[in-house]
Parts: sequence; C-alpha cells; structure tokens
Amino acid sequence: MSEKSLSEDALNLLLSRRSVIANNLGPPGPDAGLMQKILTVAARVPDHKKLVPWRFVVFEGDARAAFGEVLANAYEASDPDPSAFRRDTEAARFTRAPIVVAVISSIANKKSVPEWEQILSAGAACQNLLIAANAAGFSAQWITEWYAYDETVSRALGLADGERVAGFVYIGTAKEPPKERDRPDLDAIVSHWRPV
Ligand SMILES: Cc1cc2nc3c(=O)[nH]c(=O)nc-3n(C[C@H](O)[C@H](O)[C@H](O)COP(=O)(O)O)c2cc1C
Repeated sequence: MSEKSLSEDALNLLLSRRSVIANNLGPPGPDAGLMQKILTVAARVPDHKKLVPWRFVVFEGDARAAFGEVLANAYEASDPDPSAFRRDTEAARFTRAPIVVAVISSIANKKSVPEWEQILSAGAACQNLLIAANAAGFSAQWITEWYAYDETVSRALGLADGERVAGFVYIGTAKEPPKERDRPDLDAIVSHWRPV
C-alpha cells in the first residue's frame, strides 16, 4: 500500500475498537443526523447480487421501554414460576442504551444467492454498524441474548418468513473505558497455502 492511501485513523480505529457491554452504555447517543450516517454505513456492505438481505429496526426514546414490556411479557409467558426481579430486568433491557438497532437478516431469494451468503451479509451489516458507531465517537455492543430467538418477540418485531434477528446493536456512550480483550494469535489462525 502506498504512503498516500494509508489511513492511519481508520486503521487505529479498527485496531483499538472494543465492544462496551450494554450495561455500561449510557447517554448521549447519536442524534438523528448522525444515526442516518451510521445506518448508511451499515447498509454499505458486500451483498451478492444486490439482494439487500437485511433491514434495520431502530428503537429510541419511549419505544425502548414499550418494547421492554414485550420482552417482560414474553419472559413471563415462558417461565412457569416467573420472578418480579427478572420481569423488571426484561422490561429495562432496551433502556440500557439510548439507541438499539435490531439488524434483521432477511433472506430474499434462496435460489439466486445461497442463504449462507445472505446471512453473512447481515453479519457484515452488524459489524459495519459497530464500526460506524465507533467512528462517530460512540460505543456499541452486538448482542443476541434470549430474545433474538423468541417467537413472541419475533412476532412483535414483525419478522416475516425467512427473517431472523442477526443481532441487537446497542449504541451509546461508555460509562467507563473497556479493558483490552485477548485477541487470537495470528500464527494460530493464519496459514499460507502452498501447492503440495
Ligand atoms: C452474533 C453475535 C451474538 C452475540 N451475542 C452476545 C450476547 O448475547 N451477549 C454478550 O455478552 N455478547 C454477545 N456477543 C459478543 C459481543 O458482541 C462481543 O463480541 C464481545 O463483547 C467482545 O467484544 P469485542 O467486540 O471488543 O471483541 C455476540 C457476538 C456475536 C457476533
């Protein structure tokens, strides 16, 4: 790579990016203009045959607590002996961060592009969302927890056939800086193919 095209800022952002757990995220979150940019980055991912096999559902303001009620009710319905403490935890889940984005993997047409590739593209959208949030000066975490896999919650999200939650990306401001996390040893995961 030539000196001219090297973007130190971009590389440093990627080399230092850390998720911040949802419990450690607080206000402020990105404003509407910045969110528009962040989502535009999220939608700018490799996508074989331009199927757009993902979509975003944004939760902010009062919608977060309202969706928390959906989670709390779904939890209560699934537990034969529900606890009040756990109900409150579920009701508060989406209020942990100022913005939560549900990234929905939306399989467009199974025949034209393998489903696997379309799912990978949704994962790329989640990762771009994280990177864009960080580049915009915020912190984020990509989580699924139990409610990504719950049928009642899926209905409340309006998921159609062929749709699944790829992740909930919580976005806000870190209450405290995250600690470094061990990263894989490149020697263990990188090999160079040679003809035998
Ligand atoms: C699809 C997916 C689902 C995840 N779900 C959870 C989750 O439910 N809870 C959790 O604590 N971390 C979850 N993680 C892990 C975090 O997003 C993140 O990888 C971890 O906190 C490490 O952060 P890092 O981005 O700094 O490596 C998930 C990651 C992926 C890719």
